[in-house]
Amino acid sequence: MIISVIGTGHVGLVTGAGFSEMGHTVICIDQNQDKITSIIDGSIPIYEPSLDEIVSRNKSSGRLHFTTDLAEGICLSDVIFIAVDTPQLSHGQSDLSQLESVTHQVAKASNNKKTIVIKSTVPVSTCRRIDRILRKYGNGTVFNVVSNPEFLREGKAVYDFMNPDRIVLGTRSDDKDAKRTMMKIYEPFEKDHVEIIYTTLETSELIKYSANAFLATKVAFINEMANLCDAVGANITELARGIGLDNRIGSSFLKPGPGYGGSCFPKDTLSLTVQAQEANCPVRIIESVINSNSSHIRRLGRRVSDFCAECWNIDCKSSLLGKKIAVLGLSFKANTDDIRSAASTVIIPFLIKQGAKVMGFDPVLSATEKFTDQFQDTIPTFEAKTDLDTVLWGADVVLVLTEWEEIAKIDWLKKRSILNSPIVVDFRNLFNPDLMRKYGYHYASLGRP
Ligand code: UDX
Repeated sequence: MIISVIGTGHVGLVTGAGFSEMGHTVICIDQNQDKITSIIDGSIPIYEPSLDEIVSRNKSSGRLHFTTDLAEGICLSDVIFIAVDTPQLSHGQSDLSQLESVTHQVAKASNNKKTIVIKSTVPVSTCRRIDRILRKYGNGTVFNVVSNPEFLREGKAVYDFMNPDRIVLGTRSDDKDAKRTMMKIYEPFEKDHVEIIYTTLETSELIKYSANAFLATKVAFINEMANLCDAVGANITELARGIGLDNRIGSSFLKPGPGYGGSCFPKDTLSLTVQAQEANCPVRIIESVINSNSSHIRRLGRRVSDFCAECWNIDCKSSLLGKKIAVLGLSFKANTDDIRSAASTVIIPFLIKQGAKVMGFDPVLSATEKFTDQFQDTIPTFEAKTDLDTVLWGADVVLVLTEWEEIAKIDWLKKRSILNSPIVVDFRNLFNPDLMRKYGYHYASLGRP
C-alpha cells in the first residue's frame, strides 16, 4: 500500500518516516521546496532526536520519498494523510486555510478511490466538512475520510509514534471500507497488541482535544499544589508521590514547573474552550486551567525578585537592578528547540524590565537563535549562548527553567567559584535543597520548603 503524507512539519515528517520504518512505501509532500530539498540533502529542519537516522535509513531503502508535486503524490497513493499546520487565530479559533486548500487540491488530483486521513489537530466537525468538500469537488471519485489524531510529544515524537498507548480512528459510521484500509496501515501495531479505537469522526476529533486538555489540567493542578505547599510548608515531591500512587490519578504529569508551554497545550486548551462556547456548552474547568497556568507563569518573575531581596536583605523593588541573571533553558521543555509559549518568553523580559542583565543558556543553538530573533527589538541587550560556563560566569542569580540533562547534572560545588553570588532559583525542582544549602547556596524551588 502506498501512503502519502501532506505536510512535513513535526507531525507529518515523524508520521511519514514512522510508516516507512514500519515497512510502508511513503511519499512525503510539502509545498516548501527549500524544506523538501534540505530533507533530501540529509538535513532535517526540525529538532527531533533520532528522526534523522530513521529518515536517512528509509530514504536509502527506497521506502521514503520526498516531493513538492502534490498531484503526482496523490495519484500514486492509496491513502493520503493530511498533516498540515492548523495554527491558532487571534481568539483561539483554528486557521484551517491550509487544510482546506490541500483538500481542494486532493479532490482535484484524485483519479480513483482514496482514503483521506486527517492527522492534523482540527476542531470537532472539521472532518465531516472535509468529507463534504471532497464529495463536492472530487469529480465523482470515492473518498473515505478518517480522523486519526496524533499524541506525539516534542522531543519524544519518534518514540511516541513507535510506542503509542492507543490508535484512535474516526470514520463515517457507514464506512466499512475505511476501517479495512486503516487496519492494513496499522497492522504492525495490532501485532504488538496496541489498542485500536474505532469511533465516529466527531468523537475522534474530541479525543485529541480532551486528552491535551486533561494533561494540561494535571500540570496546572500540580503547579497550584506546589504554590499551596510553599504557603503551608508542605512538600510537593511527597505530595505528588502520595497522590500519584493512586492508580486512578497516576504519577505521570505531576512534576511542578514554570507552567505548561509549547505549540499544543496553549493552543488546544484555548481552542477547546472556544469550540465549547460555540456549542453553547462552556468548559469552565479548562477555562480556569488556562487562567491558572498563565498567572502561574506571570508570577515567576516576582518570585525571583522577592527571593533575591530576601537573600540580599534589600527592598524587592530594586533587588535585581544591575544584577547578572543566568537563565538556564530557553525552550518550553527539555529535548526540543521550540520556544513557543515557553516560560522564558515571559520571565526574561520581566527580569530585564526590573533592571537585570540577563544571559540565557540553551544547549540547542536553534533555540538560542529563535529566542534572540523573536526578542531582538524588545530586549536588544539579551544574549543567549550554548556554552553553560559562559552564561554562569559572574552570575548573581541562576534561574532554572527547563530540565535539560546538561542542566540537571550541573555540579554546583564546582560551579560556586565562577558565580558572583550563590543564588539558584530552580523552577524545575531538579536539585536537592539540603545539598544546595550544604554547598552554601541560597536555593529556592517550587513547593519544597
Ligand atoms: C503535548 C502532549 O503530551 C502530546 O500528546 C500532544 O500530541 C502534543 O502536546 P508537548 O507539547 O510536546 O506534547 O509537551 P509535553 O511533554 O506534553 O509537555 C507539555 C508542557 O507541560 C511542557 O511545558 C512541559 O514542561 C509541561 N509539563 C509536562 C510539566 O510542567 N510537568 C509535567 O509533569 C509534564
